Amino acid sequence: MSSLPDLSNTGSSAQLASAADKPSDRSVEPFPDYYDDLAGSLHHAWKLIGRATKDRKSDFHSPMLATVSADGPEARVLILRAFDVETRTLTFHTDTRSAKVPALTLDARVAVTFYDAARKLQLRTGGEATLHVGNALANARWQASSASSLRCYLGRAPGATSAQPTTGLPPDLEGVIPGRAGLTAGEENFAVLQVKLQRLEWLYLHSRGQRRALYRWDAGGLTMEWLNP
Ligand SMILES: Cc1cc2nc3c(=O)[nH]c(=O)nc-3n(C[C@H](O)[C@H](O)[C@H](O)COP(=O)(O)O)c2cc1C
Repeated sequence: MSSLPDLSNTGSSAQLASAADKPSDRSVEPFPDYYDDLAGSLHHAWKLIGRATKDRKSDFHSPMLATVSADGPEARVLILRAFDVETRTLTFHTDTRSAKVPALTLDARVAVTFYDAARKLQLRTGGEATLHVGNALANARWQASSASSLRCYLGRAPGATSAQPTTGLPPDLEGVIPGRAGLTAGEENFAVLQVKLQRLEWLYLHSRGQRRALYRWDAGGLTMEWLNP
């Protein structure tokens, strides 16, 4: 005998049914014009990634970067700093002393995953990472970054253990943003991490039908195809 209550003669099931039948805002929403358009969906993805480099409120501003470390997979959030659509290159900033750097030296393959909750859009991307330390690109990006975002490079190595709870910053920098001259010592710890995308998988959720598409780039150019969601 079932222990579930029988709701068939109560108002509850009728209420549930009417709630389910009532169209949500999303179910009456028209499909976007790129819905059945492979090239259009990719174009839309590029536009959102490009905008996210400047828009801190965009969910795509802080994607998840996954590496293959000697101990297995590792994923962490990084801020997307720049995107070049021509070369399909994502740009991030990181610390040369962080664990992801030796992992990338062993295996340059990475995955970068974006999710925009309001748009119900997931992008799973992958490619090869390149680290830039102490070269012209690293210096240009160091110069172009705000002092508040560079201060952390003056701290102790990220991920190192500490006997005390800590920010990792030297005591004289607690609560203080140094001037440009005061940041110089941190530049040797600053790395630009670039990812050239070789793969992008688009997953768009919609109550009336999902869409999933795969884009791959190789020596022969771009291949695009629909997948079952
Ligand atoms: C919202 C957010 C933004 C972050 N942005 C960066 C970033 O731009 N660069 C970075 O190296 N770490 C950033 N981090 C910290 C990383 O997630 C991670 O903890 C750090 O890079 C150490 O990772 P690793 O030990 O795997 O190398 C951010 C974390 C959060 C939550």
